Amino acid sequence: MADIAVHPSGTRSGNARPPAPGTDGFVDIVRMEQVQKYFGAVHALRNIDLRIGRNEIVGLIGDNGAGKSTLIKTMTGVYAPSSGRIFVRDKPVDLANYSVAMAHDLSIETVYQDKSLGEKQPLWRNFFVGRQITNRFGFIDVKRQKAVARQILEDTIGFRGVGIGVDATVKNLSGGERQGIAIGRAMHFNADLIVLDEPTVALAVKEVRKVLDFVRLIKSSGRACVYIEHNLAHVHEVADRLVVLDRGAIVADIAPRDMTVPELTEYLIDLQKSQH
Ligand SMILES: Nc1ncnc2c1ncn2[C@@H]1O[C@H](COP(=O)(O)OP(=O)(O)O)[C@@H](O)[C@H]1O
Ligand SMILES: [Mg+2]
Repeated sequence: MADIAVHPSGTRSGNARPPAPGTDGFVDIVRMEQVQKYFGAVHALRNIDLRIGRNEIVGLIGDNGAGKSTLIKTMTGVYAPSSGRIFVRDKPVDLANYSVAMAHDLSIETVYQDKSLGEKQPLWRNFFVGRQITNRFGFIDVKRQKAVARQILEDTIGFRGVGIGVDATVKNLSGGERQGIAIGRAMHFNADLIVLDEPTVALAVKEVRKVLDFVRLIKSSGRACVYIEHNLAHVHEVADRLVVLDRGAIVADIAPRDMTVPELTEYLIDLQKSQH
């Protein structure tokens, strides 16, 4: 195996200086401590210690079945952990009451591949699913919703001049554009952490580039991102840190500059071999 810097789980790598709290005083947008998750007899998450800094892009990688989706679902209130602690903005979460709705209220949003947009609906409607703007009579304010949708399209995700307007139908958009819309919506609604679970699956190369640009936009707008990606070159390119999961456990926490893509590939292949 290549001689690489693999850090024990939970330690920060590549950067000895602890992050400074922002003006609003917190260091980590999310932190998991000693999280376990069982599905019956399946031990899907083992002793997970993971912190996501307030403006950090963390790439989550590992073989199929390693526990990546389970980890982000536990982080975002879809699954209750079997045990352990979760902190949001350095404050402990009441896990008995943690839910997707609560994560949402805490500005944590997951963009799921494809499922997040209604196919036959115009774009502007899609931006407001579950978040209607109503006027003082309690009716949906279509004009205002369209104006906000236009602002998201043009300013937040930079779709100006590409011929996609708020009245476009979702089914006419490319895969990359859809991801952009879903990410732009999350950014507009002030998500501080945007979680992406394999957003580039089944996308053409050109479309993948768009998604990587959206991930960079998440970073440059001051937000954090957890990015699950099977393509190592792509995630290596945009992530500040790479966290490797193997059979439910974090086995490496790597700064991309400390490991080339071929070294990373070799490392993951070695992990797979050690399973058999
Ligand atoms: N809802 C569930 N019920 C039972 N087992 C599950 C469930 N979700 C995931 N698992 C199991 O947990 C393990 C991790 O799965 P998953 O998190 O989907 O991995 P990944 O996203 O890395 O491919 C696998 O063994 C999978 O079969
Ligand atoms: Mg998965």
